[in-house]
Amino acid sequence: MSAPGSAPMETLVAASAEEQAALGAELIARAIHEAILERGVARIALSGGSTPRLAYEHLGRQRLDWPRTEWFWVDERAGAKDSDRSNYAHAYAELGLADKPGARVHRMEADLPDLGDAAARYEATLRRSFGVAAAVAFDVLTLGIGDDGHTASLFPGLPTVAVEDRLVASVPAQPHKGLEARLTLTAPVIREARLAVVLCRGAAKRPVIELARSPGPLAEVPSRLISAVRGRVVWLLDEAAAGG
Ligand code: 6PG
Repeated sequence: MSAPGSAPMETLVAASAEEQAALGAELIARAIHEAILERGVARIALSGGSTPRLAYEHLGRQRLDWPRTEWFWVDERAGAKDSDRSNYAHAYAELGLADKPGARVHRMEADLPDLGDAAARYEATLRRSFGVAAAVAFDVLTLGIGDDGHTASLFPGLPTVAVEDRLVASVPAQPHKGLEARLTLTAPVIREARLAVVLCRGAAKRPVIELARSPGPLAEVPSRLISAVRGRVVWLLDEAAAGG
């Protein structure tokens, strides 16, 4: 079980995928501006999946102080960095990071043969960026929810959701679900986020959103972790996912 986060949960319901993307980009852009004003830098960690892609395209068109932004990933699928399964490859293209000189991009190296090593390397990257003594508190995290209740790459039935002593963990392949091995940020990092934007679309997500928002064991529904985020949590849904 997870302790509830300190901030109230907010839900925004968009009339279309386009509106969801525009709202998501606006929310994220505002958080980036505020972080830069307050701390001189904005650190953002991006989830993969299909839902946030349009929002990343909108965000890429926002006027941001790009050289003061640092881009990280919430999770990554094992494989080549230019593969169609790569969360990095998708977000990099959708945000247009190749045309944003000065933006610092920290991909998870899920193309390394040893994912344990890759996780340790990413943890060191996080510590370098945030400072060894500081909390790894992302200014923005984007999250999605899988039909099985996962968020990030914290899956039901795997022990990764209970990892508390590392910032990044490797996740074994799940052939029965057709999933490759992965790297993921762990629960302590997700809980520290200053803003989590949860993007879900479609009626099929409705039951799992309800489960994610109800109390119960994290091991069964790891997306329950979202309720334990210390910062602001915005559920950005379309009408079908919201059940409206
Ligand atoms: C990934 C993710 C994952 C995703 C959910 C929702 O790499 O698969 O980061 O946690 O957010 O599976 O994915 P959809 O947006 O495709 O529903």
